[in-house]
Amino acid sequence: MKAVRVHQYGGPEVLTYEDIPVPEPKAGEARVKIEASGINYIDIYQRTGLYPLKTPFTLGTEGAGTVDAVGPDVTEVKKGDRVAYASIPGSYAEYAVVPAGRLVPVPPNIDAKSAAALMLQGMTAHYLTHSTYTLKKGDTALIHAAAGGVGLLLVQIAKQRGATVIGTVSTEAKASLAREAGADHLILYTQSDFLAEVKKITDGRGVNVVYDSVGQTTFDKSLDCLRPRGYMVLFGQSSGPVSPFEPGKLASKGSLFLTRPSLAHYTLDRAELLERANDVFNWTASGKLKLRIDKTLTLNEAAEAHRQLEGRKTTGKVILLP
Ligand SMILES: NC(=O)c1ccc[n+]([C@@H]2O[C@H](COP(=O)([O-])OP(=O)(O)OC[C@H]3O[C@@H](n4cnc5c(N)ncnc54)[C@H](OP(=O)(O)O)[C@@H]3O)[C@@H](O)[C@H]2O)c1
Repeated sequence: MKAVRVHQYGGPEVLTYEDIPVPEPKAGEARVKIEASGINYIDIYQRTGLYPLKTPFTLGTEGAGTVDAVGPDVTEVKKGDRVAYASIPGSYAEYAVVPAGRLVPVPPNIDAKSAAALMLQGMTAHYLTHSTYTLKKGDTALIHAAAGGVGLLLVQIAKQRGATVIGTVSTEAKASLAREAGADHLILYTQSDFLAEVKKITDGRGVNVVYDSVGQTTFDKSLDCLRPRGYMVLFGQSSGPVSPFEPGKLASKGSLFLTRPSLAHYTLDRAELLERANDVFNWTASGKLKLRIDKTLTLNEAAEAHRQLEGRKTTGKVILLP
């Protein structure tokens, strides 16, 4: 089968498109014939070695398709089921072997591209707004990179929960998309000081929560955007990792909370995984959540997809088709 592999860490040019044997499912595993694979920022961290995996490896942690073989002792799925998954390595390929307990049934009214697009970014937007900090009516949230894959979903779900949303983006075109998604205020953080703008918008009070996936370039000022006892939810580092941090600062800046959550810990058991996935599937099927698939490329164009994501050229989701 064809797969996109990493033999050495580096830029998009290290990705190889090559033939490898079709993997065989072992006990408790199922093999999925991939119909769509999702591109996520974590793929870039794994490609560069920021999140090191043992080389060589097949990139990609999100996919949707059909079960085409199961190993012994599999009870959750059977051959022919339409399924999707996230957080399991090896999805930039024609087939992937996945622990059966991590596979989610895909409803008939959700196509493979949408399913692949929702598993990682959709469930992330779900847990950030429902569990990490439970947004409620009257809250104000600052969402960085509001026109990104997670960002556009996060804005919509935050609005559904009754929050006022301040989004940051790098361009006017991205601001339009985030506004369409429901953001109440947009700040072009590449042109103006987002801290000053947030203070202005909130009459100096600050926000209840910052959802910060940008990291290095936004972290310090994000803390200053919070009101006392506010929540700093650092969930990514698209601009680079945050420097070591002195916890005493949380006290002096207003008894703040700091968390660095990860999807894996918010889909710990099958019940939680199914609940979050079914919510985002149902919201999408009913039109409550609008999915933006910005770009669809083929597996052998994975390097180009990475260049565009890293180059801030994408909005919403990027999908690879085998
Ligand atoms: N912890 C978790 O469970 C979890 C799960 C999913 C994703 N994440 C994180 O969430 C973030 C978003 O992921 P995504 O896949 O949806 O990507 P994305 O938001 O579609 O793309 C990243 C965006 O970050 C912004 N950005 C700001 N500074 C940047 C820089 N120096 N280089 C590149 N981008 C920069 C850009 O938007 P502007 O041009 O508008 O600035 C860019 O479009 C990532 O940091 C990812 O690691 C975390």
